[in-house]
Amino acid sequence: MLSPAERWHLRIRLLSVPWHSVMAQFDMSPGTLLDVGCGPGLLSFLLEEGGYQGSYSGIDPDARKTGRAERWLGQSDRRNFTTADVGVTHGSFDQVSLLDVLYLVPSERRASFISACAARLSEGGRLTVLTSGGGPGWKRALDRLQEKAATGLGITHGEACAPCDGAEVARYMEGCGLRGIEVDDIGAGYLHGFELVTGSA
Ligand SMILES: C[S@@+](CC[C@H](N)C(=O)[O-])C[C@H]1O[C@@H](n2cnc3c(N)ncnc32)[C@H](O)[C@@H]1O
Repeated sequence: MLSPAERWHLRIRLLSVPWHSVMAQFDMSPGTLLDVGCGPGLLSFLLEEGGYQGSYSGIDPDARKTGRAERWLGQSDRRNFTTADVGVTHGSFDQVSLLDVLYLVPSERRASFISACAARLSEGGRLTVLTSGGGPGWKRALDRLQEKAATGLGITHGEACAPCDGAEVARYMEGCGLRGIEVDDIGAGYLHGFELVTGSA
């Protein structure tokens, strides 16, 4: 059961992110997916709504977030939420997602963080990263303001709060040997700037 404030937060996030473009990146057939920084479980919810047939593992270092995801969606044979850091996870996955997390990772640790996410991919597996960036300069200023507000108010926990755009993510993905890297600006029509970066192992 979620509180009214938790439901409100989910509703705002559902409306303010271009989920249609994000969801188009995922393979819905049977397979395995690791969602790094899963937060309250929106990706799991949207995958289920879209008919995803595979299994989903969401991890997040913030126990409040995994607890909320569990209360909202529950755990099953095909879905689990764990309070953990990607550095301590094992196994290989057909898909790994990292949605709106990198601004919370200190810039000097981002290359190794992306590398830890890429290390969880099976051969041919795909990494999908959503990050802020793209669009006019005012969007980036707004992104920064919202990110600072969310961390300042304690809604979101992270070791940093600094922007990370698609070009920066693409460099890290190249650095750890991913192939076919693409950066797409998917923020048109949204208040915030969003870039989607994909690559395969
Ligand atoms: C803006 S929320 C995004 C949540 C979810 N991915 C979504 O798109 O709805 C950022 C999430 O990143 C998590 N996070 C912060 N630092 C992290 C880290 N080092 N590794 C993984 N997740 C982290 C936070 O706890 C938070 O749940």
